[in-house]
Amino acid sequence: MRIVIGADHAGYGMKEELKEVLRQEGIEFLDVGTMNGKESVDYPVFAKAVGEKVASGEFDRGVLVCGTGIGVAIAANKVKGVRAANCGEPVSARFSREHNDANVLTVGSRIIGPAMAREILKVWLKTEFEGGRHAERVSKISEIENNQE
Ligand code: RB5
Repeated sequence: MRIVIGADHAGYGMKEELKEVLRQEGIEFLDVGTMNGKESVDYPVFAKAVGEKVASGEFDRGVLVCGTGIGVAIAANKVKGVRAANCGEPVSARFSREHNDANVLTVGSRIIGPAMAREILKVWLKTEFEGGRHAERVSKISEIENNQE
């Protein structure tokens, strides 16, 4: 599995924590930035970069961090083909994979602590999509996208 990861200044520290998890799990990743937590940057820039690399198939899944996890989720979900899920605990992370086939995980560095974020990521990485009736529902999400002007 290949992961693309990004964050704004608020999420920078947690992004570095999550990269440590990816290293421990032996997962290849690309970090699209931001590369420090001091300089204020705009989260949609990183959400777009991660979303496009997942939607194009260049990477299997993406991970995004901002202060709440909300801004990056909203922005990434504007990229056609992205299903970004903002998760605050591991149960949501599991269901976002099993039922929604979420291909981007977002977390909020000002909402949850590093131990919770690490656990969320581990669960999200190892959980597969269940398919079946959920695949039909996910294809209806794609239909919504395909019917936009
Ligand atoms: C940055 O201050 C903050 O607005 C951003 O990280 C994020 O929480 C937006 O949703």
